[in-house]
Amino acid sequence: MNTNERANDEDVSCYSLFGSSYSEQNIASSPAVTTWWKSITENVEQVCAQRSSVRTIATQTNKSQEVFKREDKFGAHNYHPLPVALEKGEGCFVWDVEGNRYFDYLSAYSACNQGHCHPKIVKALNDQASKLTLTSRAFYNDVLGEFEEYITKLFKYDKVLPMNTGVEGGETACKLARKWAYNVKKVPDNQAKIIFAAGNFWGRTLAAISSSTDPSSYAGFGPYMPGFGMVPYDDLGALEREFQDPNVCAFMVEPIQGEAGVVVPSEGYLKGVRELCTKYNVLWIADEVQTGLCRTGKMLCVEHSGVRPDMLVLGKALSGGIFPVSAVLADDEVMLTIKPGEHGSTYGGNPLGCKVAIASLEVLLEEKLADNAAKLGEMLRKELNKLPKDVVKVVRGKGLLNAIVISEKFDAWDVCVRLRDNGLLAKPTHGDIIRFAPPLVMNEEQLMESVNIIKSTVMSFN
Ligand SMILES: Cc1ncc(COP(=O)(O)O)c(C=O)c1O
Repeated sequence: MNTNERANDEDVSCYSLFGSSYSEQNIASSPAVTTWWKSITENVEQVCAQRSSVRTIATQTNKSQEVFKREDKFGAHNYHPLPVALEKGEGCFVWDVEGNRYFDYLSAYSACNQGHCHPKIVKALNDQASKLTLTSRAFYNDVLGEFEEYITKLFKYDKVLPMNTGVEGGETACKLARKWAYNVKKVPDNQAKIIFAAGNFWGRTLAAISSSTDPSSYAGFGPYMPGFGMVPYDDLGALEREFQDPNVCAFMVEPIQGEAGVVVPSEGYLKGVRELCTKYNVLWIADEVQTGLCRTGKMLCVEHSGVRPDMLVLGKALSGGIFPVSAVLADDEVMLTIKPGEHGSTYGGNPLGCKVAIASLEVLLEEKLADNAAKLGEMLRKELNKLPKDVVKVVRGKGLLNAIVISEKFDAWDVCVRLRDNGLLAKPTHGDIIRFAPPLVMNEEQLMESVNIIKSTVMSFN
């Protein structure tokens, strides 16, 4: 199916609305119809204004407008979505309420690595949903142990602590690090310090924003969590200086900073982090919530550097974008510092999530999605590097976690709106960066078709 195909012929194109086929004079002039007509034309004018001059997909109608308006009226305004109203997903594609098909180049911030609605993961969800969904951890269930054995053997850690969202995984890792500091490292009470890297993003809780260097995350939400320190990313010298403080118990870092705009550290950085953490008896927490699970061309991004963190935080694609599951993996020395009643979550380790997570990990392995991400990532960056440098200044990434930096002459938001018009969804970050992270189930033909959309869109700005 052509990306620009219309869902059905009844759909009202914003361009045809202003053409000769529809005009105000053609519409019967009862007051109700006049009001209806006015609301359509106002909505359509707005959409057309947003779309600049590209006229390839022209099928957003009142249906989309209704979705935008309803969210705007009844929902908190804590997001600024690209104007597209999605109703269906399959593999590397999503469809809007008018039936337009788009390449998904965001993959729900890398939660949908296995593609939208993967049949094996959906089946695992359905099978378990009709059997047992939630017991709480007040009782044993017959699935949690199966998941714990599967994931610890896969990633080679003694134990796992299951949670739900990525940020809960980060919080859990920080709590474990503090317990370990007092029980094992013998840091004086309430003196434990955790170091973070500038530009980090690990979620929106008060602890997460307390370690953020981005004012849009932390400003106006103080007071902040004490016991946190900051070093520049990719700076081993600064890290070693912080480690002179014997109360430092952990360093939490993303192997590639995703939300910061896919910032890839220098070769040798993670190896250096490992060596410093070992030398100073500091726990290394790797936040692989976004980089993990085949996204960068290996099951874990740290595998590129051949190093093993003391704690590994996973989330997002751990459940293939189907049901929130996160996990912290660590060895007994760390994990057993937390005793019954000291940490938990009503939903953490629920049988539904556990079955979904097992299926999601199996899909990554069975479909060799790490290899596919590595291969397609090379192709993608090679093609993106052919774009004129006065529009696309930088292309960077690993596997299928990539970003381009757009020249200051253009607005990344406008580029994303035009990409949408041409059948591809991506989201700008920090004003001039666009992340390109499609589902890892994409094939070469689909990659080239989507790359052509990116190329022609970018060229239309030149
Ligand atoms: C590296 C990283 N860690 C943690 C999180 C938080 O995950 P969640 O939104 O599921 O809480 C994110 C979310 O984008 C992330 O990119």
